Amino acid sequence: YVIGVDLGTSAVKLLLVNRNGDIVQEVSKPLTLIQPQTGYSEQDPDTWVKQTVAGLEELTANFAGDPAEIEGISFSGQMHGLVLLDSNHDVLRHAILWNDTRTTAQCQEIYDMVGKKRLLEITKNPALEGFTLPKLLWVKAHEPDIFETAATFVLPKDYVRYKLTGKLHMEYSDAAGTLLLDIAEQKWSQEICDSVGIDADMCPPLLASSEEVGRIDSDVAEVTGLSAGTRVFAGGADNACGAIGSGILEDGKTLVSTGTSGVVLSYESGHNKDFQGQVHYFNHGAPNAYYTMGVTLAAGYSLSWFKDVFASDESFDDLLAGVAAVPIGSNGLLFTPYVAGERTPHADASIRASFIGMDSAHERRHFVRAVMEGITFSLNESIDIFRKNNKTIDTIVSTGGGAKNDVWLQMQADIFDARILKLSSEQGPGIGAAMLAAYGCGWFDSLQACADVFVKEDRSFEPKPENVKKYRDLFEIYQDVYSQTKALNE
Ligand code: XUL
Repeated sequence: YVIGVDLGTSAVKLLLVNRNGDIVQEVSKPLTLIQPQTGYSEQDPDTWVKQTVAGLEELTANFAGDPAEIEGISFSGQMHGLVLLDSNHDVLRHAILWNDTRTTAQCQEIYDMVGKKRLLEITKNPALEGFTLPKLLWVKAHEPDIFETAATFVLPKDYVRYKLTGKLHMEYSDAAGTLLLDIAEQKWSQEICDSVGIDADMCPPLLASSEEVGRIDSDVAEVTGLSAGTRVFAGGADNACGAIGSGILEDGKTLVSTGTSGVVLSYESGHNKDFQGQVHYFNHGAPNAYYTMGVTLAAGYSLSWFKDVFASDESFDDLLAGVAAVPIGSNGLLFTPYVAGERTPHADASIRASFIGMDSAHERRHFVRAVMEGITFSLNESIDIFRKNNKTIDTIVSTGGGAKNDVWLQMQADIFDARILKLSSEQGPGIGAAMLAAYGCGWFDSLQACADVFVKEDRSFEPKPENVKKYRDLFEIYQDVYSQTKALNE
C-alpha cells in the first residue's frame, strides 16, 4: 500500500491505495481560511500538520493489515503559499496562500527589477499576485522585523513533509510556482535573487517529485500508527499531481479540472515553447517534463456563489436538474464567471462577473445553465490560447465537479470542440501523490506504467457539429464582454 496526502485549501485528504490503484480507504480533515481583511488569505501551517497527522492516525486505525505493509507516502499540495521559517525551522507567521491578492505592488516591482522579458525567459511565468516571490517581498516591505529573522521558506506541503521527516526540501513542480526557479535548469535563479534582493541561501534544497526524502520520523510513526520504515517521497504541486492522477504524461494529453477554480492543463515534453506568459508553464511531477496551464479563478466557485445566493437550501443536483431542457445559449442569457476576478487570459483581480441579456421569460434554470456555459467559455479561453500556439487538442480528460454532470460534459465537448473523457474513479491530486509514492517504491518502471494501472477511463462525449457552431458564435460575444465591463470595477 501507499498513501497519497492531498493538502488542499479547504481540506487535507488522505488516500490509502493498493497495488491495483484501488482506493481502500480515504479520510478528509477540514481546513479553514484566515481572512483578516479583504484580499488576504492565510492559514496556520501547524493546523495543516495537526490535521494531516489526525488523518494518518484515522487511516491506520481503520486499516486491517500490518502498518508495515504501508510502504510509502507522498504529497500533493496547494501551490505558491509562503511558509516563512526561522533558523530553527520554526514558523514565523501564518502562511500567505495562493489566493491572497495583496501583492499587486510587489508584482510591478518584480517587473521593474528583473524586467518582464527576462522574468519570462527564466521562470516562463508572469508576476502574479498569487505566486510566492511577491509574497516574500510583501513581508520584507511590511513586516521587516519578521523578514529579518527569516532563514528560509517552503511551500505548504513541503512544511508538512518536513514535520513528518525532519528533512527540509522543495521539489521542482512546486518550486516552479515561486518565480525564483530557473525552470529549464531546474535550479534557483541567482539572477532573480540578486535583482530582487533576496538572499539565494534562503531557497531550500531541491528534489525531483518521486525522489525519496527519507523515512517517517519515529515520533510521528508512534503517534500515527505508521511503521517507522515508511518511505517518504517528495510529492508535487496539486496541479502536477492532478496531471499525473489523470494520466497527463505525454504530448497531446490535456486535462480540464473544474473545482473551486478551473484549470486547463496540457503536457509539454520540453521548456522551449513560447506562450508569452499568457499561460503558466511549470515543471511537471514526471521527471524532466513540463505542463502549461490556464486558470479560471472562479469556476465551481461561480456556481456555488449562485447556489448560496439563490438556492441555499437545495442540493447541486436539484439546482442542475432543469438545465438539460434549456437550449444552448440559455435563450440569450450570457454569464462571465468573474465573481472573484479572472486569471487566464486577463490576469485581472478586479474584474467582476456579469449576466447579460436577461429576459422577463427567463427562469432560474436559464441562469444556472448560463453560469455553467460562462465557466466553460472561460476555460475555453485557455484552450484557445493553446490552439493559437499550435497545440493540438482533440481529446480532453475532464475531472472535478464539472465532470459529475452529463449535461456539463456534453457542453464541454461542444464548447471545446474536443472529445471529452470521463474517468471511472476520480481522486484528483491525491491519487497523483499516491502514484509518485508507488513509482518511488519501485512498483512500476515509469509513471506512465503506473498510470496504465491506476487511471481508468469510463465514458467519452463527442462534440456535435451543430452545437459546436452555435457555441463558437456565442464564444465570440463572450470574449467581447470583458473589455466592455472592465471600467465598472476599476
Ligand atoms: C495554481 C494555483 C492553484 C492552487 C490551488 O497556479 O494557484 O491551482 O494550486 O491549490
